[in-house]
Amino acid sequence: MNNNTLQHYRYQQLEQQLLDGIQQQRWRLGERLPSIRTLCQEFSASKATVQHALQRLEAQGLLEARPKSGFYVTLKPSAIAAPSTTGKLEPPRPVSVSELLLDIMRRSAAFDILPERPSGDLPPGIVALNRSIGRALRRQRGDDYLYYDDPAGMVSLREQLQLSLSRRGCPLAIDDIAITSGCQQALFLALSACCQPGDVVAVESPGFYGVMQLLQQLQLRVIEIPAHPNSGLDIDAFESALKQWPIRACLVSPAFATPTGALMPEASRSRLLALAEQHDLAVIEDDIYADTAFNSIPDPLKALEAGAVQTAADPKKSRVILCSSFSKSLSRDLRIGWVCGGRWHRQILHLKMITQLASSRSLQQGIADFMEDGHYAAHLKRQKYQLRNQRDQLLGALRSWGNDHKISTPEGGLALWLELPEQADTLALYPRALQQKVVITPGPLFSASGKFSNCVRLSFAHDWNDHRQQALARFRGLVEG
Ligand SMILES: Cc1ncc(COP(=O)(O)O)c(C=O)c1O
Repeated sequence: MNNNTLQHYRYQQLEQQLLDGIQQQRWRLGERLPSIRTLCQEFSASKATVQHALQRLEAQGLLEARPKSGFYVTLKPSAIAAPSTTGKLEPPRPVSVSELLLDIMRRSAAFDILPERPSGDLPPGIVALNRSIGRALRRQRGDDYLYYDDPAGMVSLREQLQLSLSRRGCPLAIDDIAITSGCQQALFLALSACCQPGDVVAVESPGFYGVMQLLQQLQLRVIEIPAHPNSGLDIDAFESALKQWPIRACLVSPAFATPTGALMPEASRSRLLALAEQHDLAVIEDDIYADTAFNSIPDPLKALEAGAVQTAADPKKSRVILCSSFSKSLSRDLRIGWVCGGRWHRQILHLKMITQLASSRSLQQGIADFMEDGHYAAHLKRQKYQLRNQRDQLLGALRSWGNDHKISTPEGGLALWLELPEQADTLALYPRALQQKVVITPGPLFSASGKFSNCVRLSFAHDWNDHRQQALARFRGLVEG
């Protein structure tokens, strides 16, 4: 409790006052603190407040409660941790790409240009979500807490997902869907199930950095297939790669791929599926951005496959593994996703059990209720207007920069791709931007081979307020300076 702005409650203020007393050696190591009654009088606090503050200090290992005796100081002031610097700016230093990603993630800034999170009101969709989850938690009965959920996840949530996939032309049974801890885990399970170390996987370039990390971890080899900022995977390039390399799987985001926001046209999708059939590939479909569509939500590749490939009419024979989550459309904080593994589904389920055992039931039930009550659909409806608006504002600002850069124009997703003049070096700009309180996501993060050094992903996930406009103007100054 080092930051005064966080001390909203009396017990937190008192905790800080007692901590100050220990630090200033008013009470030394091994000494007893005054009784609760004395502390109540001295600090004009209630007994509950004093007890709460003491309990928190005890939980931090600073005090020890001895039965029928009182609270004793157990740590020297020098051993008390220095204020946390999480979220604060650190001095600039050179970084490697994985360090850079960690740095961005630590600042919670993968999708924001501002390094410090301004606190705002929760949108109504999230208020309703939290209410549903709270209700599900309160409804826990008896010994619920002593049991794990089915590794595949709760039927009530899978029913809701089944319904929304069937509306997108993808009729699946509940058993064809498994709940995961976010889309990242779904992608991990999918790649683990259909590939062996050393296998070659084709990915979009630029593509999602999380995938590059998974490929590295699973000792898979990568082929970067060029992706167009507006139409996604270049199918001609993919076809030619298939002629040269023993590609085992292709991982694509047909709907609003990150970092560009590209939407693959239907003709490319059909050709991709035909090539997958011809070369016996696994197709891992990252569908995470689909629900952020500004217009109608595009059907997944999996739906197109069912119509085009006879064997895929049986979902258990499908070669498309659909991976997704609520992270982009609802909340990154839920850590709830899903995977529809087709012919690899049993293996995926087994891997999920090994790596996670099960997901939280209360959380799943809360989300299922939220969807069943129509809150998710209402949230998406509100959100898409907001996202489109924010995209337009960001585009408007960038267009005023002049003509020597290119910008993608996504019809969904949370970010766009800005291609600066060739000589720009966005990795070198990163620490300089940080000094000016701007976080950028440099292009090389989106390539296994460090390409796109003159590009950045810019997000429109947040309110387009004065702070962000000014941050973008500072970034422009660096680019042009
Ligand atoms: C394309 C893509 N796939 C997967 C993920 C990971 O999603 P989750 O938060 O559900 O694990 C992200 C997050 O940035 C992403 O952009």
